[in-house]
This record gives sequence, C-alpha cells and structure tokens, in this order.
Amino acid sequence: MSPTILVTGGAGYIGAHACVALIAAGYTPLVLDNLCNSSAESLRRVRRISGVEPRLIVADIRDAQALDALFAAQPVAAVMHFAGLKAVGESTAAPLRYHDNNVGGSVALLQAMQRAGVRTLIFSSSATVYGEPSVAQFREDMRCDPVNPYGRGKWMIEQMLGDLAASEPGWRIAALRYFNPVGAHPSGLIGEDPRGVPDNLMPYITQVAVGRLPALRVFGGDWPTADGSGVRDYIHVMDLAEGHVAALRHLLEHAPQRLTLNLGSGRGTSVLQLLHAFEHVIGRALPHEIVARRPGDIAAYWADPTRAAAVLGWRTQRDLSALCADAWRWQQANPRGYADA
Ligand code: NAD
Ligand code: WQD
Repeated sequence: MSPTILVTGGAGYIGAHACVALIAAGYTPLVLDNLCNSSAESLRRVRRISGVEPRLIVADIRDAQALDALFAAQPVAAVMHFAGLKAVGESTAAPLRYHDNNVGGSVALLQAMQRAGVRTLIFSSSATVYGEPSVAQFREDMRCDPVNPYGRGKWMIEQMLGDLAASEPGWRIAALRYFNPVGAHPSGLIGEDPRGVPDNLMPYITQVAVGRLPALRVFGGDWPTADGSGVRDYIHVMDLAEGHVAALRHLLEHAPQRLTLNLGSGRGTSVLQLLHAFEHVIGRALPHEIVARRPGDIAAYWADPTRAAAVLGWRTQRDLSALCADAWRWQQANPRGYADA
C-alpha cells in the first residue's frame, strides 16, 4: 500500500504541486487545510493531472481534536508542513496573527504528531530566515537574523524543530529553505492564485500580461546590480515539489535527525531579466516603469544549492524560459485563477 503523507496547506500553491509530485512518486497525499488562502478546486485539478484527488480535511492546524482524529483514522508515514500565512508586509502589521498561526500552529501540529507517534516532518522554511547578510550567496551554515515577523516566525520554528529533535530520539526533520518559488505545473491546471493585487513579481507580471493590471512597477533601478534592478533566485515550483519528495525519501531511508537545506537554483536573476525572459516567451513587450525601491527589499541574493545536491542528489531542472512559459500557461487558462472554475 502506498504510504500516506499528511500535507498541511496542501490546497495552496506549493502544497498542490507537492501533491502532484507525491502521487507521481507513489505516495498518497492527505491534505489538511483551512482554505484561508486557497480553494479546494486546486485538488480537483490535481485529479485531472494525476488521476487521483487527494482527500481534503478542512480544518485548522491549531485544532488539536481534528489532528488527533486524523492521525487516529489512518497510519501516516510523514508530514509535509506547508500550512502558514506568507505575506511579509501583513506580518509586520499583524505579528500576533502570524505568530499564532505559523508558530502556534506548528507547535499544535508537532504536539499532535508526538501524541500519534509520527516523527517524520518536512517543514517549509524560507530564505527569509537569513535576513540581510553581507554576501549574496546564502549558505545553510550562515548566521540567521531575519528582519520581519514572518521570517522571525520561520526561524523560531526551525529552532524549535532543532530542540525537539535533540530532546527525543526518533524524530527525522527537514527544514527546507525556499528561495523564490514561481511557475506552475506544465499542464496549466494548477498555479499561483494570489488574493487581491499580488505582492510578488511573477504573478504581477502574468497579471499585467493577461490585462488584469496596467503595468509592472520595477521597484528600484539603482540597486548595485548589473542592470540596477533587484536580483533573486527563482525556482520552478515543480523543481521545489520534487525537492520535497527527494527530502522525504532521504528522511525515510536514512533517518537523519535533522536536515536544513536551501532549495534554490543557485542562479541570480534580476527583475528586468525575468521580465525580458517572460516577454520573449509571450512574444510581446509589457508596459513597465522603474519606480522607487520597495522598503524592506535588499539588492541581491541567491542560494548556494550545494548541500541539497550532495545530500539528496537533487538540483533544479527547469530554466527561466520554462518557468515563464508555465506561469503564463496557467494565467492564460485561468485569468482569474481558480475563481474561473
Ligand atoms: P499558500 O498560501 O498558497 O498555501 C498555504 C496554505 O496553508 C493555504 O492553502 C492556506 O489555506 C493554508 N493554511 C494557512 N494557515 C492554516 C492553518 N492555520 N490551518 C490550516 N491551513 C492553513 O502559500 P504557498 O506559497 O503555497 O506557501 C506554502 C508554505 O511555503 C508556507 O508555509 C510559506 O510560508 C512557505 N514559503 C513560501 C514561499 C513563497 O514565496 N511562496 C517562499 C518560502 C516559503
Ligand atoms: C522579487 C523581486 C522586488 C514585485 C518574497 C518574500 C520571501 C519569500 C518569497 C516567503 C524584488 C521585485 C516585486 C513588483 C518588483 N516568501 N518586484 N515589482 O521580496 O524576493 O521575496 O517572496 O517565504 O520571504 O519576502 O519576492 O516576488 O516580492 O520580489 O520590482 O511588483 O521583484 O523588489 O527585487 P521577494 P517578490
């Protein structure tokens, strides 16, 4: 029988892609999501891609009863923990809401796992935990000093996971620090569906391309980078999803107590480079203007992905044009996201 993997936040952007990758690898995803930032439609789309619709339990990770009932109802081999709130700006305005949901929610999930004797966990961390180091290529052994409540929450959870693994034998925990996830499944059936005006670059670009937004504002043309725009490490969401499956296999087969890995391509791409790659894919120019820097941004960073390659044998496969083409296929087929369904 194929092992069941609990996917918290599995109806969301990255979680739904992880469900596709899990099914392809022979696992059975079981989704727990309160749908606060997603729609069950994503899981119906997973069925159209994979032939299997993950079971959805609509509940909050802070709901101990729901978690106990879930763990009592079937054996769970491992947990992929994606559930969380992710808007950096919002976390500054509402830190308690973020810490309650993300940190408190993780505590509740870990307590339920402990009661159920499930001790294998993959946690969605973020490159945000590094803060603003003086070098641009981030390595896992660098000092973490996050600069906003969202990032501090991720770092608190990582530290808590370390404490837990050290306190009790049997835990197998991976914290995966994502760089900038973008793109969509190549079918165009699932993808990123932000509520309201997107904060992030790629959905903003695709919404300009589809006519939902008038023009891209490039935040800063005077950064100390080759073309003056900000540089990030964009990772295709399917590469990211496959990285999770590789980490899961590693935890199940090699049982390391603790693993912290960057998931990124190792390649820095500027805002203007991403915009031009996208324009090349769609065959037309997009309106854009260079405006002031966005508060809280830094000039440039990207992953050192060496450790993930050495430990998991995983590295990104998809290039910039694939991530633009796939993001565009999703946006074109679903101009208003899952609301079109
Ligand atoms: P998303 O909002 O699309 O998915 C998160 C899911 O979690 C949503 O379906 C939401 O409904 C659910 N959720 C939130 N709080 C919950 C709760 N208390 N109980 C149950 N379900 C809850 O976001 P995403 O981009 O798929 O991100 C997934 C994870 O990856 C998050 O933890 C995020 O912080 C992390 N991450 C995301 C990025 C990124 O840029 N997308 C980068 C680094 C890390
Ligand atoms: C990318 C680049 C912007 C929008 C955020 C979170 C981070 C992680 C990933 C969760 C920057 C520029 C953007 C726009 C622009 N999330 N930009 N015009 O800020 O690198 O990372 O998402 O863990 O924690 O902070 O991503 O997509 O917002 O920005 O010029 O309309 O695009 O200035 O250089 P960011 P982003």
